[in-house]
Amino acid sequence: MAILDSKSKSRPITEEGDFLQIKSIDHVRFYVGNAKHAMYYWWKGFGFKPVAYSGLETGNREFASYVLEAGTARLVVSAPYAPSSPLAAHHMVHGDGVKVIAMEVEDVEQAWRETTARGGKSAWAPREEKDEFGIFRTSAIYTYGETLHVFVDRGDYKGAFAPTYRPFERKAESAGLAAIDHIVGNVQLGKMNDWVRFYHEVMGFRQLLAFDDKDISTEYSALMSKVMTNGNGRVKFPINEPAEGRKKSQIEEYLDYYLTPGAQHIAIATGDIIKTVTELRERGIEFLRVPDTYYEILPERVGSIKEDLKAIHDLGILVDRDDEGYLLQIFSRPIQDRPTMFIEIIQRRGAKGFGKGNFKALFESIELEQERRGNL
Ligand code: FE2
Repeated sequence: MAILDSKSKSRPITEEGDFLQIKSIDHVRFYVGNAKHAMYYWWKGFGFKPVAYSGLETGNREFASYVLEAGTARLVVSAPYAPSSPLAAHHMVHGDGVKVIAMEVEDVEQAWRETTARGGKSAWAPREEKDEFGIFRTSAIYTYGETLHVFVDRGDYKGAFAPTYRPFERKAESAGLAAIDHIVGNVQLGKMNDWVRFYHEVMGFRQLLAFDDKDISTEYSALMSKVMTNGNGRVKFPINEPAEGRKKSQIEEYLDYYLTPGAQHIAIATGDIIKTVTELRERGIEFLRVPDTYYEILPERVGSIKEDLKAIHDLGILVDRDDEGYLLQIFSRPIQDRPTMFIEIIQRRGAKGFGKGNFKALFESIELEQERRGNL
């Protein structure tokens, strides 16, 4: 981030400079070892609907790839056919993980020009892929680690997802998942503010919230976090870094296994968390549990809520309140063998926060799991 324009330098960190005009998150793409298995997991486990496929049968000789949707949330899982593929190199280092967080914009050329002029590192210059369904335009820059932000313009494209993809429709039993709420990145000790500046200066985001190690610490470990958001507020990216603690922080464990900074969790919104979590638990999705004592003081801590407290307790759902309302959330165990990426399920009832009141109970529960893995 060597080059910064004078306008963004003078802009307070809490103000955006919305030159990217991002509409929304277009998709999140995982590089995995076996795309067919990953597709089945999101389909049968989380209730995402498979909608498109690219692979040998569609003329793609490099990788197999499936697109799945739940509400407006769109995931892509891709796996290489041969060790010469860059997907194979990525998978060898990181295991299964998020490679791309793509955003829909009006103009991929302008998005690339503005971000690279402000010091963003280009992954590819604006390009057009054409087939019988139209023109699919993208450009891309690097964010933390090897993760990319791909800018997507599908205004002139009418096909299934992108060129080489064909419809791959399967019936899915929805678990009520509706949209991506936020995506969190883990970066190294001392690097959080660099990435906050990146989102502010290169991407035009503003800082929404900050949590320091007093908010997020347990007896053993700590972390710090700042939340960056775009102009229309639809894209929210918290950035975490480890803080000094007596033992290994969960962020350090992530970095030890992912080997570089990367996406830590995707929070997916539901309109009915009790129904969603009941459904997901039945399908074998594993969630973290906080001690029962959490629920003894819950009514006192959050006041009255619409949901049945017994159901909340039975399912292990967490609740937090802020000035504008409350939110309900729960965190999965890591969704691949390495203790890296996990999923959050969230229901907002007015609250715009991230569950600050749950951090301590939650991190003690994560540490219990770290201990079991021999990584604390
Ligand atoms: Fe979260």
